[in-house]
Amino acid sequence: MKVGLVKTAAIATMTAILATCGGATLAADTPTAKQLERGRYMAITGGCNDCHTAGFGPNEGKIPEQDWLLGSGPLGFNGPWGTTYASNLRLLIAGMSEYDWVKLAKTLKTRPPMPWFNVNKWREGDMRAFYQYVKSLGAAGQPALAYLPPDKAPNPPFVQWPSPPKQ
Ligand code: HEC
Repeated sequence: MKVGLVKTAAIATMTAILATCGGATLAADTPTAKQLERGRYMAITGGCNDCHTAGFGPNEGKIPEQDWLLGSGPLGFNGPWGTTYASNLRLLIAGMSEYDWVKLAKTLKTRPPMPWFNVNKWREGDMRAFYQYVKSLGAAGQPALAYLPPDKAPNPPFVQWPSPPKQ
């Protein structure tokens, strides 16, 4: 009985130590190589570069990694919503905590053509990995151009989005 109690106490202490050492606090500060690789994988397969990295599509993805996710640059996305510019995710993420990023990713809602509804459905581990990966690239570039309402004509270049089909 006594031995049993000591054992239980030892296990409880070990669990507490493990929770502090291997838990979220440490992981948030020091990403593992595996986590960075997972974040990079999410950026590529999530298609984030397609809009958030200038020239990514036309160059068949051959843009140096240090220039990834700096925003769509002068390229606007024009449609019934007005004109949007894909944000500089490097500046955004450098300026926020991992906790705030996860909160944002879960509730994100923007104007088109950003597929925010897909990001909302990422697993939390993917959101954290993406944060760590983008943060590891470092803050760089300029903030995106400001959104233009539908009655303001954008300067070229811009992608002209069709109106949704009439039902
Ligand atoms: C089809 C183009 C497109 C794709 C693909 C895309 N984005 Fe976006 N994204 C945009 C545009 C345009 C905006 C700006 C929307 C606005 O102004 O309302 C934006 C905005 C955002 C924002 C809000 C930034 C802020 O400053 O609040 C986040 C976060 C974001 N995108 C993350 C992602 C991630 C992560 C991926 C990959 C999974 C991704 N985007 C893929 C076009 C895209």
